[in-house]
Amino acid sequence: MKFIYTDTALLPETMITATAQKLLPYVSHLQSVIDAGTYDAAESSINLPSDTGILKKVKDLKEKVCPARPKYVINIGIGGSNLGTKAIYDAFFGAYDMLEEERESASRMIFVDTCEEAFLAKLVTFIGKLQKKEDVVINAISKSGGTTETIANLEIVLAAMDKRFPGSLDRIVITTDEGSALWDIAHKKGVYVLTLPKQVGGRFSVLSAVGLFPLEACGINTAAILEAAVAMRTRCVSPDPAQNPALVSAAILYLHYRNGKNINDNFFFLPQLESLGKWYRQLMGESIGKDTDLDGRKVHTGITPTVSLGSTDLHSVGQLYLGGPRDKITTFVSAATSRYEARLPETLQFPLVDLIAGKRASQIMDAIKEGVKIAYTKQQQPFTEVILDTVDEAALGEFLQFKMIEMMYLGKLLNVNTFDQPHVELYKVETKRILRGV
Ligand code: PA5
Repeated sequence: MKFIYTDTALLPETMITATAQKLLPYVSHLQSVIDAGTYDAAESSINLPSDTGILKKVKDLKEKVCPARPKYVINIGIGGSNLGTKAIYDAFFGAYDMLEEERESASRMIFVDTCEEAFLAKLVTFIGKLQKKEDVVINAISKSGGTTETIANLEIVLAAMDKRFPGSLDRIVITTDEGSALWDIAHKKGVYVLTLPKQVGGRFSVLSAVGLFPLEACGINTAAILEAAVAMRTRCVSPDPAQNPALVSAAILYLHYRNGKNINDNFFFLPQLESLGKWYRQLMGESIGKDTDLDGRKVHTGITPTVSLGSTDLHSVGQLYLGGPRDKITTFVSAATSRYEARLPETLQFPLVDLIAGKRASQIMDAIKEGVKIAYTKQQQPFTEVILDTVDEAALGEFLQFKMIEMMYLGKLLNVNTFDQPHVELYKVETKRILRGV
């Protein structure tokens, strides 16, 4: 993965370096968290990718529950409990679900997050038509063990399973904090349970059992994701800004935020990474969107993360981005190579666009992306660039780890608690009150 910003971030290098250097004590702290290898610190999610114990537990359970790959994995969870899994699944498979009727290489993953009645009714019908219970694994994830949507959806799915295959609790895996109410009931019922370290919050949990179990069950090489994340972690705790993309990226976002750019548009020239963008949207939104800083001052801090897709969204919001308010710092994300090839014929039937005959689709996309970058530069719109080697497990592992550490640095610069989300609780409490009828 390359991170490119020189000349395009529109900030003096000295300013970026000085800001990055302010973080050096925190860089040392992260290194000490890695050295300890425990889950005591708020930042301890950075120990997940090298935790071989977690992967072993996940693989052992996968062998027990689904020694043969199931046709379907029904993944029930919301927010931090499913966005990372969806980001990876969609990058490889979800984006192509409508084109691959029969897919040998992986299970189809069905994500159940919100309580949408039509979707749930169709899901109940779908479960009612399954041939055998081994065709499906139900994976429910709730760190707290009490999120209304997740518990409601789990009940609907369990009732449908019970009707179709009475006594099918052996098809269920629950991932939750040890000791949560969900953990308690699951143990009493004898359901398979995985846990995640208490200090690891939902949005930092993709490399724990939360993401690893469903991805393994569906056939994705999670070891490759973890290995790449470990290598990226090493880069992202380097005290040398020139070697540390997370440090520099956080410094750039922070400096532009201070200059009034309070939107970070993540512009993916890889539509299959839209869900990865949404994973990042949660990571940034919940980590730094805070009303109070660490000194107790009311600050209402936050950078609004948006997700755009190239080239699709150039035809919807390109005008706004280039001509509208100067309130954005953009991160372009693309890949250096594609593992696939789609080429135009040498002889065109509609020769209406110059010089495209015989070209690969990726060459056209590259030309568009280069054109966009030139337009941004001419309009004095700052941007950075993340170039993945290609879209594979390693690239996704690198990106996830890069962004999680970047967010820790950004939270530190903004002097907020990166790891809590007190305002998410507000709606959860009100919802439960309304459902109780009080
Ligand atoms: O990151 C977060 O904390 C939230 O988005 C949670 O992941 C989300 O609310 C779901 O919570 P839980 O996993 O406890 O069901």
